[in-house]
Amino acid sequence: LVAGPLAGRHVLVTSGPTHEPIDPVRYIANRSSGAQGTALAAALRDLGARVTFVTGPASVPPPDGVQVVQVETAQQMLAAVQQALPADAAVFAAAVADWRVANAGAQKMKKDGTGRAPALEFAENPDILATVSQMGAGRPALVVGFAAETEQVVAHATAKRARKGCDWIVANDVSPATGIMGGSENAVTLITATGAESWPRMTKDQVARDLAQRIADAISVAGSR
Ligand code: C5P
Repeated sequence: LVAGPLAGRHVLVTSGPTHEPIDPVRYIANRSSGAQGTALAAALRDLGARVTFVTGPASVPPPDGVQVVQVETAQQMLAAVQQALPADAAVFAAAVADWRVANAGAQKMKKDGTGRAPALEFAENPDILATVSQMGAGRPALVVGFAAETEQVVAHATAKRARKGCDWIVANDVSPATGIMGGSENAVTLITATGAESWPRMTKDQVARDLAQRIADAISVAGSR
């Protein structure tokens, strides 16, 4: 039997980048390592939750003791998230590509000898956080998003919380001078319905543990399963 404040609870976590194919051998990606999402999944597990970890191709291995669902694209990530619901809480730490290649080739693209370069066309990807936040029946009791900002962190993240319809936004300043992107530390501001709370700078593992504890506090009050 699992003990801990999240025993008997199901928490969904998305993590990592997505890869959007250009053709069978090429893709568009981003530099997300999956470190913060992975730390969060481990911290939620340590509090007793049953964790479903939907991850794109990350550069850090997924944690032990969680249900890992590996995906490549944003569309696959949305499908995996919908498949994994219901959940008591859902945390969206993935760096989902905003666009996919609309004219991806079924075969490897070839140079045609004319010197002309191909033109990629893009289509907007589904917003997974917004989709789940705005679900009617079956919405997790607590939906948490992340926001990486480089300026006006609180103002932009507060607007993002309203636009997406999630309960909390974990905002961080990723301007190069902070050294946060790609580093082991993070300085976050937690935006909730009641305001903005700036946490001191600490390791990403400690941010994960503190956030997991806050999630446990929130959903034990909500009392949902
Ligand atoms: O709009 P922006 O990408 O800054 O929002 C970031 C938040 O939204 C993160 O929690 C991210 O996981 C989520 N997101 C998503 N699906 C997208 C884009 C972002 O779930 N297509």
